[in-house]
Amino acid sequence: MRVLLIGSGGRESALAWALGRSPLLTDLTCAPGNPGIARHARRVAIGAEEVGALAAHAIAERYDLVVVGPEAPLVAGLADRLRDAGRPVFGPSAAAAAVEGSKAFSKAFMARHGIPTAAFRIFDDLEEARRYLRSPETAYPLVVKADGLAAGKGVVIAGEPETAQDAATEMLSGRAFGDAGRSIVVEERLVGREMSYFVLADGEAFVELAPCRDYKRVGDGDLGPNTGGMGTFSPAPGLDRPSRERLRETIVRPTIRGLAAEGRAFQGVLFIGLMLTESGPRVLEYNARFGDPETQVLVPRLDGDWLPLLLACAEGRLGRQPAPAFREDAAVCVVMASGGYPGATTKGRPIHGIEAAEAIPGVVVFHAGTEIDVSGRLVTAGGRVLGVTATGHDLPAARETAYRAVAEIHWDGEHHRSDIAAPVSAAEDRGGA
Ligand code: AMP
Ligand code: GLY
Repeated sequence: MRVLLIGSGGRESALAWALGRSPLLTDLTCAPGNPGIARHARRVAIGAEEVGALAAHAIAERYDLVVVGPEAPLVAGLADRLRDAGRPVFGPSAAAAAVEGSKAFSKAFMARHGIPTAAFRIFDDLEEARRYLRSPETAYPLVVKADGLAAGKGVVIAGEPETAQDAATEMLSGRAFGDAGRSIVVEERLVGREMSYFVLADGEAFVELAPCRDYKRVGDGDLGPNTGGMGTFSPAPGLDRPSRERLRETIVRPTIRGLAAEGRAFQGVLFIGLMLTESGPRVLEYNARFGDPETQVLVPRLDGDWLPLLLACAEGRLGRQPAPAFREDAAVCVVMASGGYPGATTKGRPIHGIEAAEAIPGVVVFHAGTEIDVSGRLVTAGGRVLGVTATGHDLPAARETAYRAVAEIHWDGEHHRSDIAAPVSAAEDRGGA
């Protein structure tokens, strides 16, 4: 099979690695890819946001499957264009990707279908929002969110009315996120342990993948600003079998069914960001794509081949596919980032030690922000640079190996968290953190 993969980050590196191992694959192309992906794929120089050019390329080349990594081309309708042209595509239509593209839509959708989530209000008028935010009846802390795609930066947790009103003003004026902030969601702050939950769907049938934990803050102990994700591990604890069944019946099934019933059948991977609260799991957000870095720990744990699973989603026959099984082995990914991340970063720093890291059994180094410079050296080219991933027979073993690999890799200004997959107290694991 000839496959086109779209994207250039750590998530796509992990998908390229997974697809590259499939006996069904004859040829993998990646647009635009990165130097790590180039080990598994031919690269074509079309950016992941160039929806018209991507569609034209995919249709002309008649790929057997197109796998879309990031959300932006999905929200912009790339999957619709490919499906209209008869090309199998792993990734939802723009109508289904609205679960990620518009938080106002996704909250209203959850309300329509009785799916547990934080209580919320939607505003598009600044004066109305400010009146609500300064009302003595409004409980704090609360959360202010921009409606549209804001690269993970459109969420402000406000302890008091001033912070909330400032955030609402920045967003609704269009100053902070342009049109993505023209509507805002104000919601109750939930307390608990977060979990990243992934569901493959073919429009109707669905299967659940292994749960992961993501570390969003830049610093150890969950301190500092939010990032795209500084590390992850799988399997994540916190859901026993009865809670998983409850999650399926109260959240997963009503979501997939509700989208289909509203003419937005979801074909691809639905990423449900959950908060495990004392009163059960609640949806923080939906994403219409795989997680980054969660994909880096999901792909090595599948006991089988990813390609037929993704193809079955694209072709609407997931229900006839054997359910995916995950190995008992754990996987840990530590993100190594550029100096300054998540703020402005320095680029072009030579990276050393990847070979030594990958010589350690069980280690794979997924590239995210790297490039080859004019003198042929591998250098940093983004905020999150590498996802150093290790598998092991249990979480402590995988963690130990991942950090041994991290210790082999250096560049000027590099930083990473040292507490990814570190043991936490039982109270925290019950969602009390
Ligand atoms: P979102 O983009 O909606 O997932 O929000 C990004 C991050 O903000 C989440 O992963 C949480 O850490 C935090 N967050 C969002 N909504 C809430 C909420 N209602 N209560 C507490 N934290 C939240
Ligand atoms: N790791 C969180 C995300 O992919 O949005």
